[in-house]
Amino acid sequence: MKLRANPHGALSGRASMPGDKSISHRALLLAALAVGESRIAGLLEGEDVMATAAALRRLGVELERDGKGRWTVAGVGIGGLAEPDSVLDLGNAGTGARLIMGLLAGHPFTGIVTGDTSLRRRPMARVAVPLREMGVTILARSGDRLPLAIRGRADPLPLDWRSEIPSAQVKSAILLAGLHAAGRTSVSEPAASRDHTERMLRAMGAEVREEETEGGGRRVTVTGQPELLPRRLTVPGDPSSAAFPTVAALLAPDSRVTLVGVGTNPLRTGLYRTLREMGARILEQNAREEGGEPVADLLVESSDLESVEVPAARAPSMIDEYPILAVAAARARGITAMRGLGELRVKESDRFGAILEGLRACGVRCWSEGDDLFVEGGGPPAGGTRVEARLDHRIAMSFLVLGGIARDPVTVEGAETIATSFPDFVALMNRLGARIEEVTT
Ligand code: S3P
Repeated sequence: MKLRANPHGALSGRASMPGDKSISHRALLLAALAVGESRIAGLLEGEDVMATAAALRRLGVELERDGKGRWTVAGVGIGGLAEPDSVLDLGNAGTGARLIMGLLAGHPFTGIVTGDTSLRRRPMARVAVPLREMGVTILARSGDRLPLAIRGRADPLPLDWRSEIPSAQVKSAILLAGLHAAGRTSVSEPAASRDHTERMLRAMGAEVREEETEGGGRRVTVTGQPELLPRRLTVPGDPSSAAFPTVAALLAPDSRVTLVGVGTNPLRTGLYRTLREMGARILEQNAREEGGEPVADLLVESSDLESVEVPAARAPSMIDEYPILAVAAARARGITAMRGLGELRVKESDRFGAILEGLRACGVRCWSEGDDLFVEGGGPPAGGTRVEARLDHRIAMSFLVLGGIARDPVTVEGAETIATSFPDFVALMNRLGARIEEVTT
């Protein structure tokens, strides 16, 4: 599908944000491990989360949709999943694939995990290597890529793992496997990654300990074989999705937009902090808690942005937001430096390359030095070009936001990928005043 973003004027109005993708995956997966029925509200019904739901069904879990975003999950208890009678296809969902690998590690049967072209290119060794240490057998394509077959065991060995990268997917996969082990399983990471798994596990009665390690790192320990209690879980709005209307409203003159119910977990809000440092007017209102996570409404008003330097240490708290930050940087005065972006090369696409190529096509000066990315901002970018989404929803949405504030329209090819995380994106943006339309030529 091709979408064309035409330049628009002021954005205004209120909009609720779609459910958080990370938390939605975890809500389904952890509810499946509880003993009894959990009810989830605000679940993101994008393709990624639906792929996780389908995989759980194949593993013998009953899930029912009671209404928009409202689901009931009949938990089978830790170790209670059934052998799947077919391949588990997680589509585009890295979180789904890696966390399901953690679950399979605790079951004495074989599961085969695959995904779409994008997911089959992504590295799985970061999860496969520690799971093998737990005594699990994993046979994969070269480089530990999908598809892979995993034969877990009823009693995986507890593990004390030191991860080289701050990755919530790696951490969560190991913790989920550790839930099945007799004893304690720990994961240390060089910097804290998002802690949704830890928060939810605690709310369900598991013993989870967190400690700071030297140099700003964090170590998380879970005690295996707890009885998880079923819960009512409310999924907050996704700050990573809210990032797109936020930047669009900041950059379109005279805009004033309220984004309702956005998660403000400090391990997710690096973009908002960076934008404020650039001079963005983003006000948090009605701060509250939902499902053990902090939430607020965001009032966003158009702002003149200045370039900043984004330190590498901030990357874990905004890892998915660099494509849209790069769009904001294209309109900020001066050169914005974004440091330490190596992980961007192994996301849904090589986002590092996709940002550079897309911005250049739109007439924005940008370059890289090692893992650092530089964007020179100024007046409205030229636009007037086509950008390929590369099976990457965030690349697609970022360049549609850019098209809205460019001199000429930007067309995104392969835009159907937006449905993985934000199925209502076009309708919502257009309600706020954007001018995105489908084109057939
Ligand atoms: C996610 C963690 C991040 C992020 C991804 C979602 C999660 O990946 O990029 O979109 O839900 O745990 P990494 O853990 O690989 O950094």
